[in-house]
Amino acid sequence: MKIFSVHGSPDKNGNSKALVDRVLRAAEQQGAATELVHIYDYTVTDVWLNYFGDALQNDFSKAGDDDMGVLKEKLLSADIILLATPIYWYQLSGKLKTFLDRWSDTLNPDFSSDLAGKGLAVASTHSGLNIMHSSRNVQMALEATAQFLGMRWLGGVDAPVQLPGSSGPNEGHFQLADDFGAKLGRGENLIGQKIL
Ligand SMILES: Cc1cc2nc3c(=O)[nH]c(=O)nc-3n(C[C@H](O)[C@H](O)[C@H](O)COP(=O)(O)O)c2cc1C
Repeated sequence: MKIFSVHGSPDKNGNSKALVDRVLRAAEQQGAATELVHIYDYTVTDVWLNYFGDALQNDFSKAGDDDMGVLKEKLLSADIILLATPIYWYQLSGKLKTFLDRWSDTLNPDFSSDLAGKGLAVASTHSGLNIMHSSRNVQMALEATAQFLGMRWLGGVDAPVQLPGSSGPNEGHFQLADDFGAKLGRGENLIGQKIL
């Protein structure tokens, strides 16, 4: 199993990175190969006027010299794509959302996607000070996105930062991350069904 993880926080040693690292280490123990990149290290051009039409024609000339080509190669070579994000106002971080917008680069004229068949999962962290469960919104949006793209939704793990005074996810959250990572490493979803 090849897992490509895209980490979407400006903090390379923050809560989201700590959580996704546990997922990835557990997946590796099941024999998975993993790679993590920080989206803040890459340039991804915002979508432009008539982007969707251009994307369907495979015309990315208006993207300029951005890094979407190399990121797309990594996406296409993975079995599972694992996003790792802090929750920013009940959503993915802005950088990660811009990257997700550009997944339309993978669409073909018949609206099929080159990402079809791959697994999609998420690891997210948030403050815990929410008027509703913030990671659930992200998970629902990503599940719908996976369905549109013909991907297999594998689920998500999330951890609230216990405010005040906590420095990050606690051991219980890490254990859930370990469990999820082991399942991903075996090609299973969050509830242990073999998907890939
Ligand atoms: C711009 C911004 C918006 C945020 N919005 C939310 C939010 O809606 N809900 C929440 O619980 N936490 C929110 N947070 C807190 C972060 O999600 C939380 O601190 C997270 O664990 C940071 O992850 P990191 O250490 O990986 O960067 C927000 C933080 C920032 C900077």
